[in-house]
Amino acid sequence: MAEDSIFDVVIIGGGPGGYNAAVRAGQLGLKTAIVESRGVLGGTCLNVGCMPSKALLHASELFETAGHEFANIGIEVPAPKLNLVQMMKAKQDSVTALTKGVEFLMKKNKVTYFVGRGTIAGAGKVTVTGNDGAVQTLSAKNIVIATGSEPTPLPGVDVDQKQIVDSTGALSLSAVPKSMVVVGAGIIGLELGSVWRRLGAQVTVVEFLDRITPGMDTETATAFQKTLTKQGFAFKLGTKVTAAKPGAKGVELTLEPAAGGAQEKLTADVVLVAIGRRPYTKGLGLESVGIATDPRGFIPTSHFKTQAPGVWAIGDVILGPMLAHKAEEDAVACIELIAGKAGHVDYNLVPSVVYTFPEVAWVGQTEEQVKASGVAYKTGKFPFMANSRAKINHETDGFVKFIADAKTDKVLGVHMIGPQVGEMVGEVCVLMAFGGASEDLARTCHPHPTRSEAVRQAAMGVENWTMQA
Ligand code: FAD
Ligand code: NAI
Repeated sequence: MAEDSIFDVVIIGGGPGGYNAAVRAGQLGLKTAIVESRGVLGGTCLNVGCMPSKALLHASELFETAGHEFANIGIEVPAPKLNLVQMMKAKQDSVTALTKGVEFLMKKNKVTYFVGRGTIAGAGKVTVTGNDGAVQTLSAKNIVIATGSEPTPLPGVDVDQKQIVDSTGALSLSAVPKSMVVVGAGIIGLELGSVWRRLGAQVTVVEFLDRITPGMDTETATAFQKTLTKQGFAFKLGTKVTAAKPGAKGVELTLEPAAGGAQEKLTADVVLVAIGRRPYTKGLGLESVGIATDPRGFIPTSHFKTQAPGVWAIGDVILGPMLAHKAEEDAVACIELIAGKAGHVDYNLVPSVVYTFPEVAWVGQTEEQVKASGVAYKTGKFPFMANSRAKINHETDGFVKFIADAKTDKVLGVHMIGPQVGEMVGEVCVLMAFGGASEDLARTCHPHPTRSEAVRQAAMGVENWTMQA
């Protein structure tokens, strides 16, 4: 192969990991190719994840607000009527605009885009098999694996994307089910459960553990569950689904206590299986370069380097939170390391947001983690009930909680539940990235009246000088 057809970097997978890696590589002047089998760039996030789910969350929230909140503040409109076909079209139009934007970014940064399935075929070689079966071989000084993840299947429950769906099916239902059972009280289950509840479904969430959203600060998760219950969600915690039988009258589920015991039956029009995601490496040719995945299927890495020289991996396919912005951080750091720069990601500073109403957002350690670490700590907490902007907007559920080192005042974790807190967690990320103390934020002027004042007041609470009431 001629020298000019040898790529500095070949990236397999066109999601947030892959396309951000491609952009950064292009910016740094590396000769770059990206290989994506879906036929569209953007990966899970843009096509069947973050973006379509947020489009439906936004639209369904407006629908519910128009139906239930307008009259209270003196806006009299006829009861809103759902046009699901139009809602789905608007969602798809947004997705298409975003994925086209990614394609434009590839051109702008001189990245060559190959449509097809990428397989590593030994050191420095990637074959691309197009949809027509044609195969071409690319030579690469560096290969970056960014093949992402897929839904974890639930034994005994076969997804047909009609009556039993995973997240992809739940983003495109053709009618609002009367009843929906969500298996798994994680982020997908609660976000997509919210969408269909707002549009009219009776939603029951079946969760294996005795709490919702494992990984979330427990005090916050307890408040979150209380709010969701008030909205009409039903929860069956400490329960497992052992079988699902689709039929003309819906899906009949067999449930059992997680610890074993008497079975019970539950019927629903639609069942959403959302029990987690697992790394995707099918047909990737890892064996050709001697890479073995770990027992859960993740590609082991150290600073994004795999066991094979010249092969790197980023995003959902490696350990760490399975989030788009984490994949993006991995991407930039990995490419900078390839280019001889100093790339680094601090996973303790990757924020999480659940885009329900109210939203939940956090960064850093949970109170349980801080307690377990043995570090002496202080907390400051401020409820939205006492925040003037939240009060005038009639959105008073939730709070902000700061956890700071008792000796140094360094912020260790911040947890928020409330309206639009996903937009407010960023200032805490900056604070923590600079090793900030709660007093740094407490002494920073915030605009009034805003919800962000609750963040400042919670920081003030660490030293007991909260002022607003
Ligand atoms: P992916 O986005 O999965 O991209 C991998 C790509 O690689 C895919 O397009 C796949 O087709 C392609 N591919 C795989 N194998 C090959 C191959 N051999 N050859 C060529 N191409 C291949 N995260 C957030 O941060 N915020 C959110 O709000 C959010 N919402 C979500 C909602 C849902 C319903 C779901 C399912 C996920 C959500 N996520 C969210 C998670 C987010 O989508 C992922 O963390 C993110 O997409 C991971 O990026 P990635 O690049 O590692 O992988
Ligand atoms: P998750 O890991 O968030 O939650 C899965 C839930 O299912 C857990 O509560 C778990 O205990 C439960 N569970 C596991 N096995 C079960 C079983 N057999 N029966 C009943 N419950 C069971 O996974 P989820 O919701 O599928 O989402 C996958 C990932 O996608 C998330 O971890 C997150 O990284 C990403 N995501 C992020 C979003 C965001 O940032 N807003 C939105 C949606 C997804």
